[in-house]
Amino acid sequence: MNKENEAGAEPGIVETAAAEVSHPFNEEAWNRETYDAWIQRFGNPAEAAARIGKQPLKSLSVLGEAIGSPEGKRIMNLMGSNGSKAVALALLGASVTVVDFSPGNRRYALELAEAAGVPLDYIVSDVLKLETESLAGQFDVVFAEMGILHYFVDLAPFMQLARTLLAPNGRFVLRDFHPVSTKLISSRGTTAKIRKHKVDGDYFDTSLEEQEASFAKYAEGEPPKVLLRKWNIGEIVTAAAQSGLTICSLTEEPNLSGDSFDRGIPKTFTLISQKN
Ligand SMILES: C[S@@+](CC[C@H](N)C(=O)[O-])C[C@H]1O[C@@H](n2cnc3c(N)ncnc32)[C@H](O)[C@@H]1O
Repeated sequence: MNKENEAGAEPGIVETAAAEVSHPFNEEAWNRETYDAWIQRFGNPAEAAARIGKQPLKSLSVLGEAIGSPEGKRIMNLMGSNGSKAVALALLGASVTVVDFSPGNRRYALELAEAAGVPLDYIVSDVLKLETESLAGQFDVVFAEMGILHYFVDLAPFMQLARTLLAPNGRFVLRDFHPVSTKLISSRGTTAKIRKHKVDGDYFDTSLEEQEASFAKYAEGEPPKVLLRKWNIGEIVTAAAQSGLTICSLTEEPNLSGDSFDRGIPKTFTLISQKN
């Protein structure tokens, strides 16, 4: 439920109670065993840091182009997980802060930064409960990527947070999975030759869906579950615009991991908006 923002608010901005928009069920899942899951997935922090250090720009993929030269920039990574993108940006000369509510992620990220020889600020907090007093207006770039928006049952507070953290003319870079792939089409088959797609989803579905957390395949025991609300492109762009950010571009991306696999289907998108 939204309520009009009163004292101290920027005009036209709507505030929503944090507890209502990100689900406690999800926080519980992410607090389990993430450190060990990242060790399984990427190896120990020293090994992972050596890999990132070889090609930090390449490890950023599309995000690198969207952010532009990181040198000297103050960058905030919302829901920055194990810190691999943050450490790559720090190696390229940015001063980076991560916010994420998983202490296991923080442990991995700080060890990764130490092994890479770069400083990293890592705040353990629900992004929607972040203490913004000393952080507001401090960042040239705020970014969040790949598995972000489906954690919120209302997008307004998240977009509003990005805007609050940005310095004037700062840019919010949001890269996430494309709803055509996550909610409209289902796909089977692991090679291009046998791959089959079905349009059997509902692009306008607003219900919450229970799924295994993305790190579940690297965790031991009962797979941790999360509750997800999948947003369509119109809802996402509208939420950014309504937070007072100016939309600069929306780029829809094909499968970037192989040439012919799933050709013609949008897999991810990058939305860039700016604080005026
Ligand atoms: C799928 S990951 C994001 C992807 C990340 N960029 C990566 O490549 O690993 C989602 C992250 O969001 C965090 N998260 C989810 N909801 C959150 C919230 N409300 N506040 C802070 N962190 C949250 C989780 O701990 C997790 O690290």
